[in-house]
Amino acid sequence: MSKVAIVTGGTRGIGGAVSKALKEAGYSVAANYAGNDAAAEAFRAETGIPVFKWDVSSYEACAEGIARVEAELGPLAVLVNNAGITRDAMFHKMTAEQWTAVINTNLNGLFNMTRPAWEGMRERRFGRVINISSINGQKGQAGQVNYSAAKAGDIGFTKALAQEGARVGITVNAICPGYIGTDMVRAIDEKVLNERILPQIPVGRLGEPEEIARTVLFLASDDAGFITGATMTVNGGQYFA
Ligand SMILES: NC(=O)c1ccc[n+]([C@@H]2O[C@H](COP(=O)([O-])OP(=O)(O)OC[C@H]3O[C@@H](n4cnc5c(N)ncnc54)[C@H](OP(=O)(O)O)[C@@H]3O)[C@@H](O)[C@H]2O)c1
Repeated sequence: MSKVAIVTGGTRGIGGAVSKALKEAGYSVAANYAGNDAAAEAFRAETGIPVFKWDVSSYEACAEGIARVEAELGPLAVLVNNAGITRDAMFHKMTAEQWTAVINTNLNGLFNMTRPAWEGMRERRFGRVINISSINGQKGQAGQVNYSAAKAGDIGFTKALAQEGARVGITVNAICPGYIGTDMVRAIDEKVLNERILPQIPVGRLGEPEEIARTVLFLASDDAGFITGATMTVNGGQYFA
């Protein structure tokens, strides 16, 4: 029987590429999303991957969502915590709402998804938890104090939980993408992208969502069983942590 994987934010951007790569590798994939029904439905129609709507910032919604996926597809083996948002502002203009929204989705979302999944993985003595952090959680980024704090928190979460999972067959790893060509990056002003961001990337281009997907696929595989607590940078040489 194929292993079951959940990809949060799995219908668009990096998550969409991850869902497709896992399906092509033989996993039974559930793609979660938050609210963009049209994109989710188009993704489902194109890929045949079932989509499930819930908000990762709600613990109850995550527990229910995981239970629904497990009832339909089977016990969860691979959890990819990918859902994320930006609410950028310089700190002197950042509102409490912008701070809270980003922490709730990008950091609390990891607790909300992983905690209900954890006991089943422990009982089955197998699990792969893969957290999509960010280069900006490693180096910090002006205008993204909220996002950088959440993404740095994702790395601490990964390192601590990896120590708990190691003896029960569960690996927990983080991937820190650099700038990847998705809607999130296309939302950046083109002048800023071309004149300020691209010159900082030694390979001279944005990353492709599929390049992150291939990293996820490797970390999910049996071949990666000795890798846990790692922070993998996939950033075109922009920053060496
Ligand atoms: N793009 C980059 O350059 C880059 C770089 C470093 C790290 N990352 C990280 O990589 C991850 C994916 O980024 P992306 O660029 O692919 O983003 P994206 O294109 O904006 O897609 C985000 C996905 O997350 C979902 N989502 C957002 N909030 C959610 C919530 N509360 N509950 C459930 N799903 C939610 C969205 O659902 P809807 O479709 O319903 O809105 C969508 O499927 C994020 O964690 C991001 O921080 C991205």
